[in-house]
Amino acid sequence: MSARTTSREPARRSRAASKQHVVVTAGPTREYIDPVRFLSNESSGRMGFALARRAAELGHRVTLVAGPVHLETPPGVRRVDVMSARDMLKATQRAFREADALFMAAAVADWRPARRLSGKWRKKDEGGDEASIALVKNPDILATVARTKGSRTVVGFALETADGIRRAKRKLERKGADFIVLNDASALNAARSSVTILSSDGTSRQLGIRPKDRVADALLELLPEQRE
Ligand code: CTP
Repeated sequence: MSARTTSREPARRSRAASKQHVVVTAGPTREYIDPVRFLSNESSGRMGFALARRAAELGHRVTLVAGPVHLETPPGVRRVDVMSARDMLKATQRAFREADALFMAAAVADWRPARRLSGKWRKKDEGGDEASIALVKNPDILATVARTKGSRTVVGFALETADGIRRAKRKLERKGADFIVLNDASALNAARSSVTILSSDGTSRQLGIRPKDRVADALLELLPEQRE
């Protein structure tokens, strides 16, 4: 399949989108192997927290579903802390029920250990120099929630190390989102990033490198104007 992106820009909706209830997910998830060990990733949560902060500053009602991160809750934001992908799915579904839009900025762990040991995993239990962990797939939160979206706005994120536009476009289609925000790996843990916004109408728009607050402002322009 060819990567059909155009230089036309996705419809830039009203700067002054009226006040909406926006759900933002942020940070990594943590998938425990035993009481003290887990699988996770490098996500700092900065992009999602910047989105939540700017959305609240613009007067939107914001629910922030946050994985384990060391960031202050932005003023005026309702925060729901979660740990695993399955916790995040439940909290996101609950919040989205009465929301107008979802920004799925979290870096969800794709896999979790098939079982979580109740006591510490000990070297001696393996009896050799090698060990392995059986993993099972986590639910896809974005795809699951997007199936219930109706006309509401759902925005996903993708961080790709190669062939970004083509892969992001496939994710957009597969997951049923309205937009995918494509980052390259330099965005991880960074204060600034350069993103490309791909729209389900086939258009795309690249934003030059800027602080995550300014990226957040551009992404909040994707919210449609709402009739009062
Ligand atoms: N996502 C999600 N649930 C998952 C995995 C990803 O909701 N279990 C969301 C992310 O929050 C992001 C988008 O899907 O908004 C794309 O995430 P990414 O990790 O790039 O996609 P994957 O489906 O994990 O694809 P791959 O591992 O093949 O890159």
